[in-house]
Parts: sequence; structure tokens; C-alpha cells
Amino acid sequence: MPIPILRSLCHSLGVTASDKHQSSPNAGEISGDLLDWYDTHARKLPWRNPPGNARPKDPAWPYRVWLSEVMLQQTTVAAVKPYFAKFTETWPNVEALADASEDDVMAAWAGLGYYSRARNLVKCAADVAERGGFPSTEAELLKLPGLGAYTAAAVAAIAFGERAVVVDANVERVTARLFNITEPLPAARKAIRECADQITPDTRAGDFAQAVMDLGSSLCTTKAPKCLLCPLTDHCAARRVGEPERLPVKPAKKAKPERIGTAYWIERGDGDAREVWLVKREGTGMLGGMRSLPDNGWSARNDGDGAPPLSGDWRDLGAVRHIFTHAHLTLTLERYEGSQAPVGKGEWWPLERLEDAGLPTLFAKAARLALAQD
Ligand code: ADE
Repeated sequence: MPIPILRSLCHSLGVTASDKHQSSPNAGEISGDLLDWYDTHARKLPWRNPPGNARPKDPAWPYRVWLSEVMLQQTTVAAVKPYFAKFTETWPNVEALADASEDDVMAAWAGLGYYSRARNLVKCAADVAERGGFPSTEAELLKLPGLGAYTAAAVAAIAFGERAVVVDANVERVTARLFNITEPLPAARKAIRECADQITPDTRAGDFAQAVMDLGSSLCTTKAPKCLLCPLTDHCAARRVGEPERLPVKPAKKAKPERIGTAYWIERGDGDAREVWLVKREGTGMLGGMRSLPDNGWSARNDGDGAPPLSGDWRDLGAVRHIFTHAHLTLTLERYEGSQAPVGKGEWWPLERLEDAGLPTLFAKAARLALAQD
């Protein structure tokens, strides 16, 4: 690694002259120290190859890496584990997932959020199965449905050992601190990427990416980083300057708009034969294609039109709150007290098997609210 380049970069990123002079980040040392740490501290995860091991011969290995990385973009390692186990048990390889029904995959994904990712999962599996396996380069991976810059780089590095610069939120935090990048996000992303590129080694790029992730989740945490235990502490410009926990600087939070909507609980039968009326949501937009309670169209039309699907008495069951990436929603739930049967597209779903309906979290919350009032 040409150290002068790193020096000039650090200079442009605000590290003071004396800091720079005392110890400029040295790319080779950074990756070496981090990989040494990873060799003994790597988390054991179901989708992971132990550090330093040759890539597994298992033909389903790239599939497992891809699947886990798509899931990990949504949520935490702990939340992903049961989903990963269920998916790989039901669809052990990309050919099996390519043959799966979109409905079954959407239902299995329920609770992970961003449902368009589940739809892309099936499309991507079909493309990959047709071409006889995953491509191994970042550029070819980027062409697959649903693979963005992060996933393409992660799969290239972790599944195929290609040198690729993998930047997720953990990598952003660690890199912003190592190089004391004080510019606020999102503008800082360009510099962060350049610095991450500088320290990514030519070999073990997959281990390196996962090492940064593990460091970011265990020691270089958002609050109260454990710098005394950090293998990179001597290289860290933010630590020398003083307050690593300030970085990366987040943009001022915009208040999310408040949305309202109404969902409807329509039930029939008694005892073990109780059923609730569920519909399939239209389109490919937010929650599109997912099973849900009928509602007043709040997601498609601004806050819905307020018209219930049946005439008769409706009883107010209260409301649930849900936070989407772009809005806060208060969803009021009403229970049908009349005698008409719903018409149109929908299905009676046994309450005993409601867990299997694959309701997205918002509607699972609403169902819990209804059932709590039995
Ligand atoms: N977050 C995203 N990808 C990850 C991985 N491979 N290991 C740990 N955390 C992750």
C-alpha cells in the first residue's frame, strides 16, 4: 500500500499534522492486525466459513452467503439466525429456491421487512439457477436482480475470495474512526469508501470484511467503543484526536411523517373452527404481495378512504403503532359485528394457524391486538 496516498488522504480528512506525523494509518498493518484478531475472535455464525479456511467445496456455499447477506441488510445477526435456518432447511440450494412459489417465500420472509427483497430473492434465484450458478465477480453479481453494491461486494469477497470493498454500517463506523472522517453522512460516504478501499487487502478480502463487521459490532460500537481492547487502537486517528464515539457524524434526523390507517378484523366460526378474513395485498409497492387484514387503502391512497369493506356495526379495538423507514403509522383496528360475509378476493384463514399466514409485522401486531380482546 502506498503510504503517501494514505497520508494525503488523512490530511484531506482533517487529521492534524502532528497526528499524521506520529503514525499515519498503514494499510498493511491495519489489515494484518485486524485479521490476526479475527483469527481468534471471529463469531461462529451458521453462514460463515471459519477464518482462514479454504472456501468450502459445497456447491450451495455461494447461495448461503448470498441469502445471509440479503437478510443481514434488513436486521441484526440475532434476528436473522432463525430465518436463515428456516430458509436453508426449506430451500437448501439456489435451484430449490428458484422452484419455490413466490407466496411461500413471501410468507417465510414475513417479519423481516422490505418485502420487495423477498420478491427479488425468487427472481434472482431463478436467474442464477438458469445460468448454472452464481457469477464470481462483483461486476457480474451486480447485474442480478436485487443485488446492490453492498451485496455484490459481500458475495464476491466472502463466497469467492475476490478483492471487493464491502461497506456496511459497521464498516462505515470503523473506517470513519480509523481515518477521523469528520464530514457528516451521507457526504462522508465517498471518503469512507476510498479509505475502506485503501485498507482492504488483496487476499482474505472476505475474512477482512467480516472482521470489520465483527469489530464494529463487538468493540467499535456506536456508543461507548471499547478502545482499550481494540486491535486497531494504535492506528485509530479518531482515538488520537479524542472522541471516536462522535463518528461517523450522522445527519440531523428528519421527523418522519405521521400516517393513519384502518384495518378490519372479520371473523366467523367458534372454538377450534374460528377463522379470520385475510386478503392478498395488491402490487409490488410497500407490503405488496403479502397476506394481510383488509384495510382502508391507507398505503396506496393517502391515509385511505375510510370506507369499511362491509356494512354493519364495527367495534373499535384500539390501534397499533408501526415505524416504517419513511413514516410512522397509527393503524386503528375495527372488528365486524354484522352478519354479512365478505365478497371479493380473500380467504378464510383458521385462527389456529394464523402464525403460518406470513403476516407482515404490522398486521401481526394488529392480529395480536384483536386476539388479546377475546
Ligand atoms: N452483517 C452483514 N454481513 C455480515 C456477516 N457476514 N457477518 C456478520 N455480520 C454481518
